[in-house]
Amino acid sequence: MSKKHILAPSILSADFARLGEELAACESAGAEWIHVDVMDGHFVPNITMGPFVVEACKRVTKLLLDVHLMIEKPERHLEAFANAGANNITVHVEACPHLHRTLQQIKSLGCKAGVALNPGTPTTSMDAVLDDADLILVMSVNPGYSGQKFISSTVAKVSDIRKRLDALKSSAWLEVDGGIDAKTLPKVLNAGASVFVAATAVFKHPKGTQAGITSLQNAMRDP
Ligand code: DX5
Ligand code: ZN
Repeated sequence: MSKKHILAPSILSADFARLGEELAACESAGAEWIHVDVMDGHFVPNITMGPFVVEACKRVTKLLLDVHLMIEKPERHLEAFANAGANNITVHVEACPHLHRTLQQIKSLGCKAGVALNPGTPTTSMDAVLDDADLILVMSVNPGYSGQKFISSTVAKVSDIRKRLDALKSSAWLEVDGGIDAKTLPKVLNAGASVFVAATAVFKHPKGTQAGITSLQNAMRDP
């Protein structure tokens, strides 16, 4: 598998009145992906953004758009997110009774297909589609809000999935999302994660967005 590690700032904690500037800061600081957290007020308690925001990001950044759908019946909205410019679309195993079909739909739209697991969902729940996924997203907080505390039991889940992916010689990305900062990032990196999502540690860094990214990049280089 690729040894490359990717930082994916989540715009959930960005200043939406200055979204273009925030994205430019991510780009110039060397972030590779932009993570977009879509919430519907049903699958998770919060409501956030939809395809219009993805389309707006696409107009102002060349970074890859990593769209995380925390919504019920995501299959109804895949085309809208793909048309808006999503590169990766990740759905939750808990929200998809026809997960295999949903992953194929995402791929047929020209996007990379991701599967996300809540902290309470066992890693075995997506064994059957492990070979079909381009990305596995392990939630390290209960989805809904940024700024929550990292759940340590996630580290063992990351190791477990890393083993399964390596056994399959899969090159799928292994992404971790929630409570990631300069202290928690090395733990999941050592467990085998390859993509690190962070909202608070990037956009709420006391010295600004670029400093937030630099701090996480240092943690990625020097675990
Ligand atoms: C949680 C979202 C995360 C969240 C991460 O529901 O999926 O992407 O924005 O926020 P931090 O990095 O602040 O935990
Ligand atoms: Zn997310």
